[in-house]
Amino acid sequence: MKRIVKKSPPQDTSFAEALISWQKQHGRHKLPWQRTRDAYRIWLSEIMLQQTQVATVIPYYARFLERFPDVAALAAAPTEEVMAHWSGLGYYTRARNLHRCAQQIIAQHAGIFSQDPEALASLPGIGKSTAAAIAAFAYGARAAILDGNVKRVFCRVFGIEGFPGQVAVERDLWQRAEALLPAQEIEAYTQGLMDLGATLCTRTRPACERCPMQSRCIAHAAGRAAELPARKPKKAIPEKSTVMLVVVHAGEILMEQRLPQGIWGGLLSLPELNRLSSGDSDVGLHEQLALALSAFGDIDDIKMLNGFVHGFTHYRLSVIPVHITLRQRHLMAAPPDYQWRALAQISEAALPSPVRKLLVTLGATMVS
Ligand code: ADE
Repeated sequence: MKRIVKKSPPQDTSFAEALISWQKQHGRHKLPWQRTRDAYRIWLSEIMLQQTQVATVIPYYARFLERFPDVAALAAAPTEEVMAHWSGLGYYTRARNLHRCAQQIIAQHAGIFSQDPEALASLPGIGKSTAAAIAAFAYGARAAILDGNVKRVFCRVFGIEGFPGQVAVERDLWQRAEALLPAQEIEAYTQGLMDLGATLCTRTRPACERCPMQSRCIAHAAGRAAELPARKPKKAIPEKSTVMLVVVHAGEILMEQRLPQGIWGGLLSLPELNRLSSGDSDVGLHEQLALALSAFGDIDDIKMLNGFVHGFTHYRLSVIPVHITLRQRHLMAAPPDYQWRALAQISEAALPSPVRKLLVTLGATMVS
């Protein structure tokens, strides 16, 4: 019997070969910072492109170069003028670092950008990936880039799970980026990675049908291009819970006037068990309630109501409402921030929204 051997698709070209060949045919070749070896121009473009799209950068890049044609002109310019030429591009730390970097290049490096990516990465505003792009485009240095677009391409092609911002995932990505580097044509390879990430392997609706990596892409084979790379994990929202007391007697309801500070400051809220007493988990709910309400009256009846969850920005509050009727009300001094209010008018008070929701839901049943 013939054994069926599952083969991965034929891969007679390396990742780099396939990318370089695609870049030459289908990549971008006429961007204003291409077809130059001027490290100043390449550096400027890479800084502008760090957090801004190509189409937005183009006019800024032209105006900037007209006013600051070389690193000496930029270093000598007043900061305000540099900022004015950056105005509208956003992320202004980039402009301040750009100016400082130009001044360092003039003062400490004889006006010359180094060919060594590590030396470049020690300058203000130049991270590891930007340093590699400058060294590759200006000097043909064999250095690996890894920006957000490239991370996405690698995560999909190699089926890398996990959020790329995680240290372990990022380390893995850098290792791959370095291992994949071709021996030649680093410029086309580097530009190819950028072009692929920006034009085909986009975050949403990637154009897999036109992608030169389709046959080797693990995410595509598994139908998971939309899922990779993994999104930033959402922080778990903490959940708190509270026992809210709907204490009624003779057509009135017991309310707590919240102090101006803190949650629901200045609003009129329902009493909460943990705010009335420190809570003794050794005794049952009935005893806890009797103790907490001892200043207000004697309990006649306790009914558990349906709980609900209220979402705040930083946490979720699970509300456990308890309906309590008092047999009689004590006249002894109660805490000053607690007050009896007419049930019929309670909806006119400044109530926190979950309290309003609860009281409205209870509605008629309370007025007893
Ligand atoms: N994004 C970052 N660097 C780029 C470059 N050189 N060309 C196009 N997009 C880029």
